[in-house]
Amino acid sequence: MHDPDPLALLSATARTAKSSVIRDLLEHAKRPGVISMAGGIPDPDLFPVEEIARAAGRVLAADRGVLQYGLTSGEVGARMAVAPLLGHEPDPERVLVTTGSQQGLDLVAKVLVDAGDVVVAGDPSYLGALQAFRSHHADLEAIPVDEAGMVVDVLEERLEAGLRPSFVYVVANFQNPTGAVLSAPRRAHLVRLAERFGFLIVEDDPYGQLRYDGVAVAPIGEGSDHVVRMRSTSKVLAPGLRVGWTEGPRWLVDAMVIAKQSADLHTSTLSQAIVTELLGDADWFADHVAAIRHQYGIRRDALCEALTTTLGDRISFQRPEGGMFLWATLPGVETMPLLATALENGVAFVPADAFTIDAHRPHTARLSFATVDPEDFTTAVERLAAAIDAC
Ligand SMILES: Cc1ncc(COP(=O)(O)O)c(C=O)c1O
Repeated sequence: MHDPDPLALLSATARTAKSSVIRDLLEHAKRPGVISMAGGIPDPDLFPVEEIARAAGRVLAADRGVLQYGLTSGEVGARMAVAPLLGHEPDPERVLVTTGSQQGLDLVAKVLVDAGDVVVAGDPSYLGALQAFRSHHADLEAIPVDEAGMVVDVLEERLEAGLRPSFVYVVANFQNPTGAVLSAPRRAHLVRLAERFGFLIVEDDPYGQLRYDGVAVAPIGEGSDHVVRMRSTSKVLAPGLRVGWTEGPRWLVDAMVIAKQSADLHTSTLSQAIVTELLGDADWFADHVAAIRHQYGIRRDALCEALTTTLGDRISFQRPEGGMFLWATLPGVETMPLLATALENGVAFVPADAFTIDAHRPHTARLSFATVDPEDFTTAVERLAAAIDAC
């Protein structure tokens, strides 16, 4: 009889993808009574449930094909439906419908990365992207992120010193987790570097529609074949639909289509049909996005006000112009141990180190304002202040 350790059956990759201390702690954030600023999810009260139900009814009545197997690249109408999120009419041959933009991140790494290839990402970055790139054995190169997004000058220095990435991953609008927007000069600089050094820019943009004030920055490298764009319905309609898109050069989209065949054959045809209906009604979609922007904007303001009123100069943060996240620094307070005390006090957030690659940011935290009732921010921040005092 051999030793029956079932974990020995796991692949080396699966064995190294451990649950993190922070994730384990945050299980407590789900307890009743805890005000959670930890999650990165949209508010279910803002899902257009009735419109989704009506669209589902219409598409099912019109064509049983919406329950049939479909094209791996996505139905042509669904590929074109991304137009309002891209800001231009796409060429359908350059678009792939994915099962959430998360699948786009996985597939892009699957087709571009051989073990040990370099992928550049901002430090900090969206954890789901880092996990996807690591699962394909990418060697992550961390570039610092500040209030104006990825510090592209640092990337340039490393490229000049010999760094040769497959791609640079960037969330240019209201980055998860910092809320930062990549400035226009940095966007232009990044495109110049991509063209000079021959890498791709993978621009993941689930939050671009959620701008509450300030002026929108023009998209990265409009028309450049060095840019791959990911869009998603998750933050503007509902993540349960699992519809996202990747737009990029044809050779890349074609390779991703082949990689997607073995992943899931295609994204749900029913979801694609519903999304095509909803985004196809331009007036309704514009009104819907305006309404959710308004609601999230109220929450952003309520959180900023509560932080300023209750914590004053004990906290520093940049007011995010959109998205769902506020990146705050508490000088002299370590946010890892603070989380345990905060949870006891009934409030949750995510310490910055959950999102970092190389950098250690012991005094910083991500606060998500998307799912908190505007009336609860004062209580949430008072609980946080009490936890800080107790630490
Ligand atoms: C930056 C970023 N990219 C991608 C995703 C995944 O989105 P989707 O639901 O489209 O897969 C998220 C989810 O929170 C995100 O924050």
